[in-house]
Amino acid sequence: MAEFGEDLTKEFRRVPRVTALKSGIPTLARLASLWEQGFRRWNPKSVESDRPAAAMAVCLAIANPKGGVGKSLTTLMLADGLALAYGARVLVFDADPQAGITQALLGIVAQDDLDQRQIGLGPLLRKWSQGQEIDLASHCVPAGDLAELRNRQAGRIDLIPSNHQLLGEIADIEHAARHIRRRDRLDILLAGALRSAFRNVLPNYDIVLIDCPAGPGPLGLAVLRLAGHILTPTSLEANSYSTLVGFLQFILDDDLDLASQVKVHPLITQYHASNTLQRQMLDHIQQGYYGLNAIGRPISYATVLQGAASHPGAGSFRTAREKYGNSLADVLGLAHAVAQRISSGG
Ligand SMILES: Nc1ncnc2c1ncn2[C@@H]1O[C@H](COP(=O)(O)OP(=O)(O)OP(=O)(O)O)[C@@H](O)[C@H]1O
Ligand SMILES: [Mg+2]
Repeated sequence: MAEFGEDLTKEFRRVPRVTALKSGIPTLARLASLWEQGFRRWNPKSVESDRPAAAMAVCLAIANPKGGVGKSLTTLMLADGLALAYGARVLVFDADPQAGITQALLGIVAQDDLDQRQIGLGPLLRKWSQGQEIDLASHCVPAGDLAELRNRQAGRIDLIPSNHQLLGEIADIEHAARHIRRRDRLDILLAGALRSAFRNVLPNYDIVLIDCPAGPGPLGLAVLRLAGHILTPTSLEANSYSTLVGFLQFILDDDLDLASQVKVHPLITQYHASNTLQRQMLDHIQQGYYGLNAIGRPISYATVLQGAASHPGAGSFRTAREKYGNSLADVLGLAHAVAQRISSGG
């Protein structure tokens, strides 16, 4: 643990200076003060015991209808970063039948075994489509590969997994659900069922991260309706920017009142600092020209991040430095930026 503390202290010096968090989640605010002290007095046990018994978790969806913009990678970095830097208890909900974050947090082999044991998004949706109750606690499994989080005293990641076999089943599940509930919109009904299912597990966590599927559809829209905040990763290519604008417009225009429930935070990902155009765009975004309210610090394009998303296999652990290399500063900076946004209410 001493090595972990020293290593992170060095990393913290590389991310922009932290100002105290004002209010909001007690755990994150408490940990922010430890961050201020450069983690010199880092003590996982004290963090654990200072927690209020039943604080409700914040729900953050990582969403963009455009595929391949880094939603799943951002979810991974954020889960690791919040658990590492803030000792946060993180629940990741893989709401994507592509199961990208499940593979990154559990490895390739685990998902089929879980599906056979009726655990995860597929079994959960099948039950719902047949009109049955969802017991979410039985779908939350321990996940992650960071050596620092192995003892799970401070900082913990659980996962509601997905399974790529669901890709072939999703149309049948929607069809079955429509058969039982003919009149109402499926996304509203599913959001209602998930919201009440989540109520039982939320006290166990500080934050729920929802990795959303690309494209439109009832599942993606239902999980957006659970969130208080939406983090929208986007690259700076022209078509990414237009998708982002369309997505923001959709949230504002939604006649079912999505805009009044959520705050949207665009995040620039896959940033190439060597590209002059991207540098100029980032400069403009940071100065607020486009009114995007984007998170100030971009995630650079780095091949080490692609490796980070490949899980080393069940029972294998690696240190945060081994996993993220020089991009560890991006992981911690992202966790800090998001914690700050959430606790300031902005
Ligand atoms: N900052 C980055 N640097 C390097 N590679 C990245 C970065 N962000 C994303 N990638 C890579 O781009 C690919 C797409 O990323 P990812 O799967 O996270 O996107 P996504 O938005 O979740 O995609 P989908 O819409 O298909 O779910 C992956 O191979 C990922 O490793
Ligand atoms: Mg994804």
